[in-house]
This record gives sequence, structure tokens and C-alpha cells, in this order.
Amino acid sequence: MSGTVIVGGGQAGFQVAASLREAGYADPVVLLGDEPGLPYQRPPLSKAYLAGKTDAEGLNLRPASYLAEHRILHRPETRAARIERDARRLILADGESLGYDHLVLATGARNRALPVPGADFAGVRQLRGLADADHLKEALAAAERVVVVGAGFIGLEFAAVAAARGLAVTVVEAAARPMARAVSAETGAFFTAAHAGWGVRFVFGAGVEAILGEAGRATGIRLAGGTELRADLVLVGIGVVPNAELAAEAGLAVADGIRVDATLSTDDPAISALGDCARFPSPFAQGLTPDGSVRIESVQNAIDQARCVAGRLAGRPAAYGAVPWFWSDQGRHKLQIAGLSGADDASVPRGSGDAFSVFRFRNGTLRAVESVNRAGDHMIARRLLAAGTPLSPEQAADPGFDLKALASARA
Ligand code: FAD
Ligand code: NAI
Repeated sequence: MSGTVIVGGGQAGFQVAASLREAGYADPVVLLGDEPGLPYQRPPLSKAYLAGKTDAEGLNLRPASYLAEHRILHRPETRAARIERDARRLILADGESLGYDHLVLATGARNRALPVPGADFAGVRQLRGLADADHLKEALAAAERVVVVGAGFIGLEFAAVAAARGLAVTVVEAAARPMARAVSAETGAFFTAAHAGWGVRFVFGAGVEAILGEAGRATGIRLAGGTELRADLVLVGIGVVPNAELAAEAGLAVADGIRVDATLSTDDPAISALGDCARFPSPFAQGLTPDGSVRIESVQNAIDQARCVAGRLAGRPAAYGAVPWFWSDQGRHKLQIAGLSGADDASVPRGSGDAFSVFRFRNGTLRAVESVNRAGDHMIARRLLAAGTPLSPEQAADPGFDLKALASARA
């Protein structure tokens, strides 16, 4: 039957299938993924779903009827094992063989494992999928003391939910500040203080030496240096590893992600890759990474890259150049980030208290804007970055300077 076969039924894979149909692609579309159930969104797993404010059905990207109506053949609990590029065949884990005209790799990422003794004890958990979130909800209901390893997005969103339940929460982070991969020291300091206000304790610059336990159950952790922290639940959120093995074993270029060109094609024109698993050249990463390529772990990136791939397969090739943006909800605070910044970028604050933005500049050029409870700034930032509108650090810092007018003038 051939057509397009998509490996990975997550945010990116589902969107490729949906966008192919929107773009008028008429050939068969097969969407296979190794998780059970319908394609679903992950963001609520560490927010509303974990807090019991939405149910599992509310996570689904579309109902089953949508897939049927759009002739998307969805095959859950189906794992791809091997690609035979010469024959344009995908071999599934059960040995079945699927021919393809085009193959899309949307295999996402998996959580990095904590490489210390005791990491396999009961009570040590991670969060990536719905099954993890269900386990965590149960564990949270029984827990009193929680240690979170990693003050990234998962760690802080989880800590906010656990603290709101009245649990004793300690966050242990290897770096000197939270979310260092994504935000400035200023924004990090705001969230450290906010969490502290909710009762969360932080230990920065700390390595975990071991998970302590009794009878196979976690009772705490030991830090390098010997400090011990008691816990009946340990949540490990120390980043992800892209699922690039299928591509690597098929001889495609892989380096922290499947390497793709500006149109998200691998070096085999019959195979594309996108979303969390793909490393692509981005105008927004120029000067940020040695070769200007980047791998982005966000919903916006998965959706916009899917539209780009679907457009190419439907006969409208284009380079991918969408402005990266994403968000994080922690307690009552909403963080929104537009653009990409590096640790050395200059920070220019605008606003104060619980509602402010940090404009990030590299060599005088605006590269990113972090907004805390300032949705208006975030929307303006996306427009400024998309249009490449010049903004000086002095203008960003001046509360009287009309950013909206600047963004509109150039639109
Ligand atoms: P995934 O959604 O991971 O989907 C990949 C799928 O492929 C998975 O189902 C995987 O099991 C499957 N797969 C892998 N290998 C195979 C194989 N060989 N055969 C078959 N199937 C396979 N981003 C934001 O922008 N904002 C947020 O607030 C936010 N919150 C998040 C909260 C959590 C708890 C998590 C885990 C992520 C969050 N993210 C957020 C990140 C966002 O969800 C991801 O960037 C996005 O899901 C990436 O989509 P993807 O399709 O590339 O990967
Ligand atoms: P992350 O990369 O955001 O943060 C990992 C943190 O763990 C970093 O601060 C890092 O310094 C720290 N760390 C690494 N090794 C450590 C160790 N041994 N001990 C202590 N700290 C250590 O990754 P995170 O939070 O695990 O998130 C995983 C994925 O989920 C990412 O793709 C992320 O983008 C996504 N996600 C996104 C959200 C959002 O955008 N709002 C929310 C939740 C998850």
C-alpha cells in the first residue's frame, strides 16, 4: 500500500498525519506508535492532569473518529524495529514488514536515567508518558516527603503540584540555578523564590551519590559529600535523550538527534525526522551552537515542524524557520519563552514584581524574551523575532517605549 509511514504517535507524528490530510495528500497514511491509546498531549501530565484537574480523555489530541474520517491508519502498541532503506521497508518488532514511499521519524525522546545505586528502587519515578503520570498520581496520594532530582521543567512543575498538596518537597539540582538550559539567572531566581514561598527547599550544585532504601523501597537519597535527605517518593527529571537509534542503525547521520537539513529531510530523501528526536539548522541558533543546529523539545516545535514536513510531502517544500516558543506553568505563575538564548546573553528586565519580562540580547541583537505573567510581551516578542525587527536594549528597558507599536509598524 506504501504512502507515508510515520513512526511515533506523539505530538509531532500525529500532526504530520493531520497536516498531510489538510494539505490534500491523498495516499495512505500510517501512524504507528508504541504507546497504547490515542495520540495525546504531554504538557498536562505535569500540570492539570497530575493535579487531578483534567482526566485522561481530556489529553487526547483528537477522538478516534477524527483518525477514521481522515483515513489515518493509527496503530498503537506497535514498535518499529528496523529500517531497510534500499527496499524502502520498515520492519516492526513482531517481524511484520511495511513498505513506504516516505518514512517520517517522529520518535521523540526518553528520560535520561539517573546512574546511581538504588535508582531502580520502588518509589523512584520519572515522568514522560500517561502511564508514568498515573503511577505518580497514586504515589503522590501516599507520599509525605518528596525529593525531586533536577530543577528543570519537569522537576519544577512537579514540585509545584506536590507542594500544593502540602507535601514536604526538596529539589536537588546539579547546576547553580533552576532551568539553566532555557532561562536567564533573573528568571531562575524568580522561580526559586516563588517555590520557596510555597515551601519547596532547594539544594543547588549538588550531585546525587545514591538512592537509599529498605527492602527495595526508596527511603531517601545521599548527596555527594554525604548529606542524606529522607523521602518516600523520588522524582527524577534530569533531561532527555533523543530516540535516534532506528535512524543510526539505518546509517543516517545522528549527533544528539537525527540530523536533518533545513527542510527537515535526513540525508536519505525518502526519510524525514522532526520533533524532539531531530537536530536541524535554525536561524535562531546561529551563534548559539557551534554549527547553528539545534534540537528543540517543545509542542510548538513538534507542531510547526510537522506542518513543514507535510507541506513538502504534499508538494510545497520550504525551509523550517518558525520562531521557537514554549511555556511552563508553575503554581500560579506562567512562564512563556520566545526565541533561543545562551547562558552568556545579556539580560534586560522590563516590568517588576510578579509580572515582568527578561529580554535577552547577544551582541546587541534581541535573541529571546522570557515573560512571567506578561502574555502581552510574549506575543509581541514572537512578532519581533519573526520579523527580525531591531530593538535596542535601551528601548527594551524603557517602560515608556511602545513595544506593541514597534511590532505593529513592522507587521
Ligand atoms: P513524543 O511526544 O515523545 O512522541 C514520540 C512517540 O514515539 C512516543 O509515543 C514514543 O513512545 C514513540 N516511539 C519512539 N520510538 C518508537 C518506535 N521505535 N516505534 C514506535 N513508536 C516509537 N512542551 C511544551 O512546549 N510545553 C509544555 O508545557 C510541556 N510540558 C511537558 C510536560 C511533560 C511531562 C513532558 C514529558 C513534556 C512536556 N513538553 C512540553 C514537551 C513536549 O511534550 C514534547 O516536546 C513533545 O511531546 C514532542 O513531541 P514528539 O512527537 O517529538 O515526541
Ligand atoms: P530539563 O533538561 O529541562 O532539566 C533537567 C535538569 O536536571 C537540569 O536543570 C539539569 O541541570 C539537571 N540535572 C541533570 N543531571 C542531574 C543530576 N545528576 N542531578 C541533579 N540534577 C541534574 O529536563 P526535564 O525537566 O527532565 O524535562 C524533560 C523533558 O520534558 C524536556 O524535553 C522538557 O522540555 C520537557 N518538559 C517541558 C516542559 C515545558 O516546556 N513546560 C514541562 C515539562 C517537561
